[in-house]
Amino acid sequence: MVTGAGGALGTDLVRVLTQSGERFSALTRADLDITDPEAVEAAVGAWASGSDERAVLLNAAAFTAVDLAETDEQAAAAAQAVNAEAPGLLAAACARHGAAMVHVSTDYVFDGAGPAEPGAGYEPSDPTGARSVYGRTKEEGERRVREALDAHHVVRTAWVYGDTGANFVATMARLAAARDTLDVVDDQHGSPTWSADLARALVALGRSDAAPGTLHATGSGATTWCGFARAVFTELGADPERVRGCTTEQFPRPAPRPAWSVLSPASWLAAGFEPLPDWRAALHAAVTCHPELLGRAPVDR
Ligand SMILES: NC(=O)c1ccc[n+]([C@@H]2O[C@H](COP(=O)([O-])OP(=O)(O)OC[C@H]3O[C@@H](n4cnc5c(N)ncnc54)[C@H](OP(=O)(O)O)[C@@H]3O)[C@@H](O)[C@H]2O)c1
Repeated sequence: MVTGAGGALGTDLVRVLTQSGERFSALTRADLDITDPEAVEAAVGAWASGSDERAVLLNAAAFTAVDLAETDEQAAAAAQAVNAEAPGLLAAACARHGAAMVHVSTDYVFDGAGPAEPGAGYEPSDPTGARSVYGRTKEEGERRVREALDAHHVVRTAWVYGDTGANFVATMARLAAARDTLDVVDDQHGSPTWSADLARALVALGRSDAAPGTLHATGSGATTWCGFARAVFTELGADPERVRGCTTEQFPRPAPRPAWSVLSPASWLAAGFEPLPDWRAALHAAVTCHPELLGRAPVDR
């Protein structure tokens, strides 16, 4: 069962499950508001009782307007309800109905100063310390899932883009057409993650017998937002040097972003899974699969 099925990740989860022939239930926000306790209980109960095999809930629903949550009280309350409290409701319903849960979380639970060893990726065991409203609500959501359900996986990912909704790749492609040069932050480090790769990884996890716990899964390798933007320009056939690096200070945003967002793949590999593809190769695959990300007409596939 997929919640948040209309989002970037949710859309790809539905594609992967459809291709695999798996029997599943995909619920968009219009189908199930995960903040509604009675609706959650009814949906999880119906799905789990109708499943011959182990039922697994993949929660891709979230309040993801990071800056709005920082500046707007109503948005902050929505983030608290969707990201912090609702995962606990879903997990408790799974516990009551014998289902497992894969809950998606974020690099924003870390403060961004980086782990003790300079240059290393964060491990799941590293101390968290979210600096934004969004990050703190996601941190609380993780905790509530762990407390309510033994059969859980919390999977932290980062810098997700897909062909649904606003995303960095499409934004850079649009700006490439509109401007001669572009200043993009070059002092925040992370791993771009194509939602299709993440969806395949999460479905593999949901099918597995991997021990419950927290795992990190992002595209392999790391770059900065500036490096990511230059790669988008290269994919467009545009000169990547048109993208100029700037500092976070020069491009302030309402919500603080972690300077170091790199997540170590060690937990993912130790659980017996393949690494996610290299971020640069994944970007090429994504724009080949979805040329509309670059503002080009889709091709028949
Ligand atoms: N995008 C990133 O860079 C990134 C990075 C790290 C982690 N993540 C995590 O990855 C997961 C998937 O994110 P995404 O990028 O796919 O985000 P997304 O495109 O914003 O999708 C989130 C989905 O959740 C839905 N939703 C919001 N409130 C809901 C509610 N009360 N009940 C049911 N559904 C609700 C949204 O519906 P509406 O559109 O109708 O509101 C949307 O379809 C989230 O857990 C997110 O925190 C994302």
